Amino acid sequence: MRNKLTKAIFPVAGLGTRFLPATKSVPKEIMTLVDRPLVQYAIDEARAAGIKEFIFVTSRGKGALEDYFDHAPQLEQELRKKGKDDLLEILKSTNMDSGEIAYTRQNKALGLGHAVWCARRLIGNEPFAVILPDDVICGDKPCLAQMVEAYNETGGNVVAAMEVPADKASAYGVLDIKEDRGKIVSTKGMVEKPAFGEAPSNLAVIGRYILTPTVLKMLNQKKTGAGGEIQLTDAIDAARDKGEEVYGVRFEGQRFDCGSKAGFLQATVAFALEREELRDELWGYISGLVNTAKAAE
Ligand code: UTP
Repeated sequence: MRNKLTKAIFPVAGLGTRFLPATKSVPKEIMTLVDRPLVQYAIDEARAAGIKEFIFVTSRGKGALEDYFDHAPQLEQELRKKGKDDLLEILKSTNMDSGEIAYTRQNKALGLGHAVWCARRLIGNEPFAVILPDDVICGDKPCLAQMVEAYNETGGNVVAAMEVPADKASAYGVLDIKEDRGKIVSTKGMVEKPAFGEAPSNLAVIGRYILTPTVLKMLNQKKTGAGGEIQLTDAIDAARDKGEEVYGVRFEGQRFDCGSKAGFLQATVAFALEREELRDELWGYISGLVNTAKAAE
């Protein structure tokens, strides 16, 4: 019987420089796809996978994130007075019970591995998930729930894996595959941001992980890796060197890299087209743009 997974870390202490100047005062994770902040998608996905404790690693200037998950008594009272029950219902999904959510600070942006290490005391000796809210994944079954199924089967460390074109591999952590079993692959290594042409496969790791406490121990060593940062990938690979298994899960679903402007815009369009009240108007606008471009060719 595996240790049940109940805790998730949300590292949100990065500088978000690709979205400056907006991220000078607005945390990237609060930016919205249509009307829901990126972090709401991450929380919903974690809940759907059975997570009960939500641990945020934050930094200076991320106060809006804490406010987002707090109750808003004045606003709720106004909505109640006006009989806006639908909006009250929407607000409910943002509320966290007292004690369900914890915040810890990363004082310096030393890398994703370091951000995860900052939550070590809140994790203790249990398995834990890591969710990067920048990576938004939509599909019939939420990505983390698919990974929990794999974890229940395999144990060890489990990372979300996605096929990427060879010329894009150097932007990711890439898996060195030991055995390919289809949905699940076992690994014999992992390379963070491999040099062009040196990726061990085309299976890249994206922002969902289920990890053992051994990875936190490896992070204690605070080794810097690619880009001079303390890399989570390196600590996972070090846990593998110590004899733990690391599996990749080819998840089903579409992933949007909302840490980049192009990915964020694509996600905005995709999520807007899913909404009945927006679909026709937006589709009309996009078709109009396409027709004008075609006419000008
Ligand atoms: P990114 O590589 O996207 O970095 O981090 P970033 O700072 O958020 O954004 P850019 O590149 O400057 O635009 C991936 C995830 O890791 C977290 C980020 O908050 C994001 O969720 N992170 C990264 C930390 O929490 N701390 C760090 O030191 C680095």
